[in-house]
Amino acid sequence: MSISIPEIKLNDGMTVPAVGFGTYKLNGAAGVQAIVSAIDAGYRLIDSAFNYENEGAVGEAVRRSSVPREQLRITSKLPGRHHAYKEAVQTIQESLYRAGLDYFDLYLIHWPNPSKDLYVEAWQALVDAQKWGLVRSIGVSNFLPEHLQRIIKETGVAPSINQVELHPYFAQEEQRAWHEEHGIVTESWSPLGRANHLFEDPAIQKIAAAHQKSVPQVILRWHTQLGAIPLPKSASPERQLENLSIFDFSLSEEEMRTISGLSRPDGRTFGQDPATYEEF
Ligand SMILES: NC(=O)c1ccc[n+]([C@@H]2O[C@H](COP(=O)([O-])OP(=O)(O)OC[C@H]3O[C@@H](n4cnc5c(N)ncnc54)[C@H](OP(=O)(O)O)[C@@H]3O)[C@@H](O)[C@H]2O)c1
Repeated sequence: MSISIPEIKLNDGMTVPAVGFGTYKLNGAAGVQAIVSAIDAGYRLIDSAFNYENEGAVGEAVRRSSVPREQLRITSKLPGRHHAYKEAVQTIQESLYRAGLDYFDLYLIHWPNPSKDLYVEAWQALVDAQKWGLVRSIGVSNFLPEHLQRIIKETGVAPSINQVELHPYFAQEEQRAWHEEHGIVTESWSPLGRANHLFEDPAIQKIAAAHQKSVPQVILRWHTQLGAIPLPKSASPERQLENLSIFDFSLSEEEMRTISGLSRPDGRTFGQDPATYEEF
């Protein structure tokens, strides 16, 4: 029996499921196998990036899966070294060639890299790529409110999604509120904190035991109740299914507050503050 996943409507009308699948480190034949298995389990939103060097594996999984292309939401991201307008356009085209797809459902600017100050040009390239039909929906990743404000002001187009680091140790309350105010949907990267010490947290363990659910399931449920779309990565078919099985229970307001209360200002897993951290 397949799991029914709620849908979320973006500001441009496209819908995406409330949980997606992360693919960082899923490469080559093993990567294709893991992504096909995720689609079989019920994932329809697949995250990827030019820099993960697995757009080819994602495209191959799309072709091997029995799910029609139009039911899938395939994402990729523009790397920091190609923000200049012309390069950005060519990179989106190259991403499509690598994936062997005619269009992406979602394309994001991976990091703002503010010291280079080219992210507005990159955004204009995404706006045009959407007009040309290369991409259905356009968004960003790791953009702070000041970066979002600038692209909206200079192009008149707001992103549909901002994908940011988000997990119980870094709950992004202000950033999420800003998104909500501006009609931008939040996606959570490293939603499980990359399986670090978060899994040993006694407060989350207690809540998991009360619901007879696993710690990862409680964490992912917390994301969806916040209105954020988690993108858990797992190479294992069992854990892929486990991570999707979160729509048959709910957390109380108090449990939500307890989990959000674990957040701390220095809670980023790798200290990657987009104001200063850059990726190319
Ligand atoms: N935009 C950005 O800058 C950015 C940055 C980082 C990540 N991302 C995206 O976000 C996705 C998710 O983030 P992430 O890969 O960093 O970390 P994550 O999804 O938080 O954690 C993945 C880790 O958790 C393990 N895991 C998953 N489900 C589990 C379960 N039910 N029980 C026990 N262990 C479990 C996985 O191991 P197994 O595979 O062995 O199950 C893997 O080691 C990435 O894959 C990528 O698509 C985006």
